Amino acid sequence: MPRKLVAGNWKMHGLAADLAEARALAAAHRAPDCEVALCPPATLVAAMAAALAGTAVMVGGQDCHEAAQGAHTGDISAAMLADAGARMVIVGHSERRTDHGETDAQVQAKAQAAQAAGLTVIICLGETEAQRDAGETLAVIAAQLAGSLPTAAGPDNTVIAYEPIWAIGTGRTPTLEQIAEVHGRLRAELAARMNGPADVRLLYGGSVKPANAAEIFAVPDVDGALVGGASLKAADFGAIVQALGAA
Ligand code: PGA
Repeated sequence: MPRKLVAGNWKMHGLAADLAEARALAAAHRAPDCEVALCPPATLVAAMAAALAGTAVMVGGQDCHEAAQGAHTGDISAAMLADAGARMVIVGHSERRTDHGETDAQVQAKAQAAQAAGLTVIICLGETEAQRDAGETLAVIAAQLAGSLPTAAGPDNTVIAYEPIWAIGTGRTPTLEQIAEVHGRLRAELAARMNGPADVRLLYGGSVKPANAAEIFAVPDVDGALVGGASLKAADFGAIVQALGAA
């Protein structure tokens, strides 16, 4: 299994007609040197999984409920995502934490539920601009990791995405040194928390695009990216996949 991973987060974008972008991406990357996943809105998970069956591009969800089933109108369980063809799921994205008040404990419970359903979980964390300005970034990241990481986390079922909130959808990115500093800290925290190899994949996310992908992928301890806006078009996302494959 290639270690590197690039995942596209379509957020609340995408209708059935947009599956053409997923097909175009898969056609251009038959045997990528890295793992590739697209996380469409829940309405498209099954259709995208069918459209990408037999290709090298996996499908993921954007969120799941922490319970296996129950009276939770409008929510989706991890088993439902897996049943629809998803192999992974994003949890704790800052937009979920902000829009839906999700706490670290909830994110941890969701991650645990996802792993129980056999999904690889991408756990997102990141600081606000005010926290960065106050010099709190590393402490915030460490606390989020400690609070969100499930007990059974390992390299095969867990991916961490560092996404500075101020860099998401803004066109702004941290310096390469700032990315290296946070990823280095995450690597050290993981090593301290896990018995055995701590080679959980660490993704960077926040305004990754074809123009900056290669330099970000060259940063130590960056194992790939979580991509929002630039994942919507096969040409842009494909260029990012190619940059990771070449890194
Ligand atoms: P962006 O989003 O690439 O549009 O900045 C990243 C994300 O939210 O995962």
